[in-house]
Amino acid sequence: MKKFVLVTGGTGYIGSHTAVELIEEGFEVVIVDNLVNSSIEVLDGIEQITGIRPHFEKFDLCDSIKIDELCKKYPRLEVIVHFAALKAVGESVEIPLDYYYNNLVSSINLLRAMIDYNIPNMVFSSSAAVYGLPDKLPVTEDSPVKKANSPYGNTKQIIEEIILDTINVNSNLEAISLRYFNPIGAHKSALIGELPLGVPLNLVPYVTQTAIGIRDHLRVFGNDYNTPDGTGVRDYINVVDLSRAHVSAIKRLLDKKCKSNYEVFNLGTGKGLSVMEIVKSFEKATGQKIKYKIYPRRPGDIDIVYADTSYSNRELGWKAEISLEETLLSAWNWEKNIRKKS
Ligand code: NAD
Ligand code: UD1
Repeated sequence: MKKFVLVTGGTGYIGSHTAVELIEEGFEVVIVDNLVNSSIEVLDGIEQITGIRPHFEKFDLCDSIKIDELCKKYPRLEVIVHFAALKAVGESVEIPLDYYYNNLVSSINLLRAMIDYNIPNMVFSSSAAVYGLPDKLPVTEDSPVKKANSPYGNTKQIIEEIILDTINVNSNLEAISLRYFNPIGAHKSALIGELPLGVPLNLVPYVTQTAIGIRDHLRVFGNDYNTPDGTGVRDYINVVDLSRAHVSAIKRLLDKKCKSNYEVFNLGTGKGLSVMEIVKSFEKATGQKIKYKIYPRRPGDIDIVYADTSYSNRELGWKAEISLEETLLSAWNWEKNIRKKS
């Protein structure tokens, strides 16, 4: 019998790619999303790729009554993969209460539902942001959690703590937090991908929008960092590779392979790449020239951060496999596809 997985935020960027991987692995996917940062057409993309349309319920997870109704409608849920959140770092500084309310209340409601409706497993979308400015590189899961430099980052830290506290007193519950480094790219079909609203904040969407002519040039934020070419270094991971790690985490929970009721894993490639390396690789992969100018450092940015992935590779039996060139090409194909539609 197919196992039911609830994917919150499943019409969003990472949730939609994970829904595809789950459906392809034979899971029955139920998506809840209020579409605050995604669109209903994403379901068509998932269906075109997999041949299966996931169950979809549109509501705000801050509404606990709606969650009760959901759990009654789908009594066989075994896992919650909790992506739903507001995620814009800068915006979270402007409207912190919206971020704390949305991200915390939705998570608390889901944890309560796990207890009330006997849903034993959760996979939570956390972030490498919890490590702040790391003392040592690469960053292992044992690296200390540093004071967050934004309300958004703080919601990830607090939710991890809330999950741990809840699990400590509910021995039938288990959870895995996955700390993402920098997810990029799109599904190779170009039928789903990232849809940034307005001016992109992240590097790769800015690069693809520059290539297609929506932006005049890429602003490279700082070339005087303590890195080989002076530009910031990050660990960019293909979103499909990232999604596959969720499937591994779910299987680990369902197969009762966890070493403790609460586990944490880094999701990255283990390799740091600079802004200029991304630009050059994009040019090579796509044949598109990227105009760029050097700008001052962006406040809050750090020089260099990348993951130690040995623990997640070993324990999850998973590894990021898709090449950088293929990843950047997928981002470019997705950009071209959405502009064709609009
Ligand atoms: P996204 O904005 O594309 O997807 C999140 C989805 O959640 C959206 O579709 C949105 O409509 C929905 N949502 C938000 N609040 C909701 C609510 N209260 N009720 C119902 N639906 C709600 O973001 P993403 O990039 O796919 O990120 C997914 C998760 O991964 C988030 O928790 C994010 O914080 C985390 N994360 C993302 C990145 C990244 O670079 N994209 C990095 C680290 C962590
Ligand atoms: C940001 C978020 C982080 C989130 C991550 C992935 C901040 C402070 N952090 O991380 O919480 O988990 O995205 O979504 O916002 N860059 C440019 N020009 C641009 C955009 C970026 O030069 O137009 C540079 C940045 O200075 C950085 C690198 O590219 O060196 C990556 O930036 P970005 O994609 O925004 O990711 P992070 O800052 O690592």
